[in-house]
Amino acid sequence: MEKARFKWVLRERNRKIAAKTEVFTEQQARRVRSFHSSFKEYSPTPLIELTSLAQHLGIKNLFVKDESYRFGLNAFKVLGGSFAIGSYIANELGEDIDDLPYMRLVSDEVRSLLGSKTFITTTDGNHGRGVAWTANRLKQQAIVYMPQGSAAERLANIRAEGAQAEITDMNYDDTVRYTSELAQKNGWIIVQDTAWDGYTRIPLWIMQGYMTMALEAYEQLPVKPTHIFLQAGVGSLAGSVQGFFADIYGSSCPLTFIVEPKGADCLYQTAAANDGSLHSVTGRLETIMAGLACGEPNSIAWEILGNLSDGFISCPDYTAAQGMRILGNPLAGDTKVSAGESGAATVGLVAEAMRDERLSDLKQALQLDENSVVLCFNTEGDTDKENYRRIVWDGAWGRE
Ligand SMILES: Cc1ncc(COP(=O)(O)O)c(C=O)c1O
Repeated sequence: MEKARFKWVLRERNRKIAAKTEVFTEQQARRVRSFHSSFKEYSPTPLIELTSLAQHLGIKNLFVKDESYRFGLNAFKVLGGSFAIGSYIANELGEDIDDLPYMRLVSDEVRSLLGSKTFITTTDGNHGRGVAWTANRLKQQAIVYMPQGSAAERLANIRAEGAQAEITDMNYDDTVRYTSELAQKNGWIIVQDTAWDGYTRIPLWIMQGYMTMALEAYEQLPVKPTHIFLQAGVGSLAGSVQGFFADIYGSSCPLTFIVEPKGADCLYQTAAANDGSLHSVTGRLETIMAGLACGEPNSIAWEILGNLSDGFISCPDYTAAQGMRILGNPLAGDTKVSAGESGAATVGLVAEAMRDERLSDLKQALQLDENSVVLCFNTEGDTDKENYRRIVWDGAWGRE
């Protein structure tokens, strides 16, 4: 369907897959959370209930898991990079990650056993900051490349963690290829948050790392949601959270919808084609949602999302801008949520579907009504403050 620049495709869940994935289980999530909670910066991020907003929109509840509080890094991403680097080191030392909490990981003992390592990655900002932060804590090196058009503030934040970082003149997917070649040539370890043929171990750990966020949300929710909205770039975050909730709830899993920007909607394209192959978006991947500006789906994530998600929605950029303005200007009694472009996309979608009469078909497709209990993840705060002000103060990217 296509309406007012939104496109969507609904899917039948593949019940044969039994809603179980072996690696995204509650038990595994508890191991991951135990690893993260060994860091002194760890505390669960808040799950914020926006009561007035839910009432205004005409839904029952709206919960927003606010990842802008994660480890003081303003985004959820460090959960993946840190768990992957921890798991890589455990593997190199022939140990179990359960025996490598933070204090051991940063110890001289582990450093002398491991030697000096260089971790390399491509990022739009948040993932690279998490990798740089982890490498810095472990007294190891990080090299980070960013696609063309990346924000200066995001580059500066990565350099502030001691990483060597640069913005390239390539798009995200080409920068990933470039980084991978450099890693191979120099014997560096590529810590990439997406998988491709022959490269699955580290991205799987990254995806497992994100389960801490899902587990916390599950424990914090006072009621079972009817709807979960997940924003996607390559789909690693969405695949991880979808896998976790499918493990928890089985065939009574809440409706789960995947939200992407129109300029980089590779999962939507893959779902719409429905021909058994992955479909990419190439070119400049124009969108204000920098974290979601990825043109090639993660194959591991698609395995989960393609079988278990209920629909894929491709949105115009103003969806995220609306979400940022709504979250940043709360109704009486609600808490302010500082959300960046990628973080606000899902709340923006729910708000547009409920408020814009032109989108009544979309609202119906999403089965949103006065009984809906909605869970969204604000995956980043104002990680690009200049753009945040342009949108929230100056009204850029207004509703079309
Ligand atoms: C803030 C934010 N939200 C969501 C995502 C999407 O994650 P994924 O690429 O795993 O789909 C990203 C990715 O960088 C991000 O930075």
